[in-house]
Amino acid sequence: MKKIQMPENFLWGSASAAYQVEGAYLEDGKGMTSWDSFVRIPGKTFKATTGDVAVDHYHRFREDIALMAEAGLKTYRFSVAWARIYPDGNGAVNEKGLEFYNRLIDECLKYKIEPMVTIFHWDLPQALADAYGGWEDDRIIDDFVNYAVTLFRAFGSKVKYWITLNEQNIFTSLGWLTAQHPPGKFDDQKTFYQVNHRAFIAHARTVLAYKEMNLGGKIGASFAYTPGYALNCDPVHVMAKANYDDLKNYWWMDVYAYGRYPKAALRYLEKNGTAPDVTDEDRIILESAAGKIDFMGVNYYQSCVCEYNPEDGVTPYGTMNTTGVKGSGAVVGIPGVYKNPANPYLKTTDWDWIIDPSGLKFGCREITSRYALPIIISENGLGAFDKLEPDGSIHDPYRIAYLKAHILALAEAVEEGCEILAYCTWSFTDLLSWLNGYQKRYGFVYIDREEEEGASMNRYKKDSYYWYQKVIETNGRNLTDELR
Ligand code: BG6
Repeated sequence: MKKIQMPENFLWGSASAAYQVEGAYLEDGKGMTSWDSFVRIPGKTFKATTGDVAVDHYHRFREDIALMAEAGLKTYRFSVAWARIYPDGNGAVNEKGLEFYNRLIDECLKYKIEPMVTIFHWDLPQALADAYGGWEDDRIIDDFVNYAVTLFRAFGSKVKYWITLNEQNIFTSLGWLTAQHPPGKFDDQKTFYQVNHRAFIAHARTVLAYKEMNLGGKIGASFAYTPGYALNCDPVHVMAKANYDDLKNYWWMDVYAYGRYPKAALRYLEKNGTAPDVTDEDRIILESAAGKIDFMGVNYYQSCVCEYNPEDGVTPYGTMNTTGVKGSGAVVGIPGVYKNPANPYLKTTDWDWIIDPSGLKFGCREITSRYALPIIISENGLGAFDKLEPDGSIHDPYRIAYLKAHILALAEAVEEGCEILAYCTWSFTDLLSWLNGYQKRYGFVYIDREEEEGASMNRYKKDSYYWYQKVIETNGRNLTDELR
């Protein structure tokens, strides 16, 4: 039988985001961001943790990238903090911000690590929120494109992979529906859809601007994709899945890939009076950019179950498990449409995230069939409690098991015809988990810090570090040989 193999030159990598790793939140001219402000509101984050210092990547990036090189990483996905480049979101460029990312990119290239740059991973310059409400005003579009073009001009000759927006579906849902992210609005449906529409236009105009510059790289957006399975073959649940997909998945991916909204979902929102206002010019922009994206970025953590949700059923606003106490998260859904109950066939993490490697293959197959686009897995990983042993080792077999199963599922997707360009684990070092503090660890490299400040920040390699090193060294063959 033929062996299953990952493509040659496959980009094995890891990902991070500026706010979650950099720290140095007021250094070298950086402006305040929406997250710098939000974490200071009592009760918003686990034990009031902030990214003020984070894991000090700003000062230790050389050490971190040397560890990446030793592990054999082929790509490092990181985000740029908009407020380092434009402290006020627009106006004068802060040269020191550009210099920092230049050094970071050069350090990657020194080791032949392909830099993959996320333009926006949620940390909006606070000045734009103050000036006009950030994503709630059309002025954000020009400011975003201007910021993105500044990055293209500065780094476009060195950076060949660009991600416009990270998880637009998550930052808008948590920002305007559940009040868990800035700007902390609750159940503001109409604004939510208009904000999304604006973000789509900002993304699309950025794609068009990039392509006009002829820099020869690839560009796309990263979507937090949670594939859904119908509870069973009862047609009412099968329709709940179809509705879930239209409202929670295709609403974003269809716009990136086709430049249009799924019809049934649009009709549903029009009836509710929450559909976004879309002009003819918007349609042209969205459609022309859609034809130009080079990949679908996918952040995959879990799948879900779709069950019909009665009119008086659960809402999207149940409590989220941000403590790591299993079972403390609530079932959520949209009354009269769908809800997402537990999956009795699958285990969950301590934060109640469903562990489903098959969902990664399912999602890749779905994207391949529906959009025929190459895929970059821009995030995948396990948040877990880790223990630093007295001898400096960290034994994390649960993380190895999780990643191994997901990589094997991805290899199967490749075998079945999906074009996968890259796989980035979340994350390389431990980092700040937005709402869950530092105790929810994702990295191959343990960082000596807890919720309070003042620890050593020393880096320690976990067992999974050596394991990933082997995976990369063999281009995954040490795993895929099992799949003959
Ligand atoms: C994604 C984000 O939602 O998932 C990351 O892009 C985030 O920034 C990751 O950290 C894991 O989520 P969490 O909530 O466990 O940190």
